[in-house]
Amino acid sequence: MKTAIVLIALLGSSMANAGAPAKAAICATCHGQNGISAVEIYPNLKGQKKGYIEAQLKAFKAGTRTNAIMAPQAKILTDAEITELATYYSSMK
Ligand code: HEC
Repeated sequence: MKTAIVLIALLGSSMANAGAPAKAAICATCHGQNGISAVEIYPNLKGQKKGYIEAQLKAFKAGTRTNAIMAPQAKILTDAEITELATYYSSMK
């Protein structure tokens, strides 16, 4: 019974956003659903290099790159989520 509920929950979430990492829903509000932002001061992430995205997120998290809007976003991410998001955006075509 429990297994069935978990399976339905997993199916539901993967159908909602075709393989996107959970936190990507937050990023999408500024960087766009498809990684292309609608706002001049928010950079596009689609197709960006994986290593670069990872390095920037870690720098925002560590405070070595400062930005009042982006720093709090990076601070809630684990290293595993950073890798997952970098893979996701870099693989967008
Ligand atoms: C409230 C808006 C907002 C949200 C939400 C947000 N960002 Fe950002 N992001 C920004 C802004 C603004 C910048 C530009 C910072 C600067 O000018 O230094 C930025 C910069 C970045 C950069 C650096 C891009 C570059 O070209 O150097 C990356 C990578 C990034 N964001 C990833 C993410 C990820 C991943 C998430 C979700 C966890 C996220 N952002 C959520 C606003 C946002």
